[in-house]
Amino acid sequence: MAVGNHRPTIETVDLGAIKWNVQQIRQAITPGKKIFAVVKADAYGLGAIPVAKAAKEAGVDGFCVAVLDEALELREQGMPEEFILVMGPTEPEDAALIADQSISVAVSSIEWLKEALAYLEGRKTKKPIRVHLATDTGMGRIGLRTVEEVQAFEGYIENQGDFIFEGIFTHFATADGEDPTQVDKQLAYFQELVGCLKKRPPIVHLANSAITLWHESFQTDAIRLGIAMYGYNPSDTVLDLPFALKPSVQLDTKISFVKQMHEGDTIAYGARYRAYEGEWIATLPIGYADGWRRDLRHQTVIVDGQRCPIRGVICMDQCMISLPKEYPIGTKATLLGKNGGIVNNPSEMAVEIDTIGYEILTGINQRVPRKYLS
Ligand SMILES: Cc1ncc(COP(=O)(O)O)c(C=O)c1O
Repeated sequence: MAVGNHRPTIETVDLGAIKWNVQQIRQAITPGKKIFAVVKADAYGLGAIPVAKAAKEAGVDGFCVAVLDEALELREQGMPEEFILVMGPTEPEDAALIADQSISVAVSSIEWLKEALAYLEGRKTKKPIRVHLATDTGMGRIGLRTVEEVQAFEGYIENQGDFIFEGIFTHFATADGEDPTQVDKQLAYFQELVGCLKKRPPIVHLANSAITLWHESFQTDAIRLGIAMYGYNPSDTVLDLPFALKPSVQLDTKISFVKQMHEGDTIAYGARYRAYEGEWIATLPIGYADGWRRDLRHQTVIVDGQRCPIRGVICMDQCMISLPKEYPIGTKATLLGKNGGIVNNPSEMAVEIDTIGYEILTGINQRVPRKYLS
């Protein structure tokens, strides 16, 4: 995809804020617990490599990604030795690559191990595959579900020199909610599944950001830290953060066109918005093809410290806003982040459009260039 380098729409990522957030979280968790920075989906859209490097400088102990290619990208671009776990499914066909690259993988069945064995023939090294057993304690996504399955898995893997049983983990479905019932149930079940093993693997882990922030007392060896590292509340607005985090994303553009309307003049596709007499309308060079989603049309953009409502539907590459007065072309307009003391926080905006902050962040796509502050 061509990056819009000749357009004033830029996502600025504050790597200093990311490091600060890692340090805040380090102070809040049990000493000795490892922090794995979750940098999947290009570090939630912020840029996997710069974010991973910043997180490493802040002292994280490893990385989690969702797909094998994300792990390979880290390996190739400056993380040759670091712990990297692929939390989502991988293909047994890639077993040799996984082993040679010393990448840890989530495994949800004995069948995966058996199939992978056949493909290990192609290894360049004699390295084993580092396995983290996924358990499904209530998320309903991947993982073994019963004591019998977990014991059978251990029985199989303990006799296989080509695998290391490095970890066991689960993932919570409601850690960002007010009601702890499901969290407690999942934790108890996970403890039962870990407890049924003859030998506890070295890395037992279950915590995402929400568990880390609101249920830190759970005894495990590592946390998988995503959204909180980026400075955002995993619950959006449901729960208060126990300590401050620094948001790391600023999405700005510049006014590209300004005009004064007559009463009834229409704006954008469908001519759904009709201006009032004398309304100042500015055009911004960002649209839904950049990830500035159409359902954000009832939100505001900040110009000169003032909230300016979006007018009409959001077009593919541009959108229009109402200004309180005339502003020159080139005036800064802030879509996410701070402008003159006013803030657009993706977590808060998400609530209005029935999504989550994660989706707004990951949605800003590669056409928008990233700039990094350290
Ligand atoms: C298995 C797993 N662990 C950890 C995380 C990180 O979650 P968060 O960004 O809420 O910290 C994710 C993200 O979706 C995940 O899928």
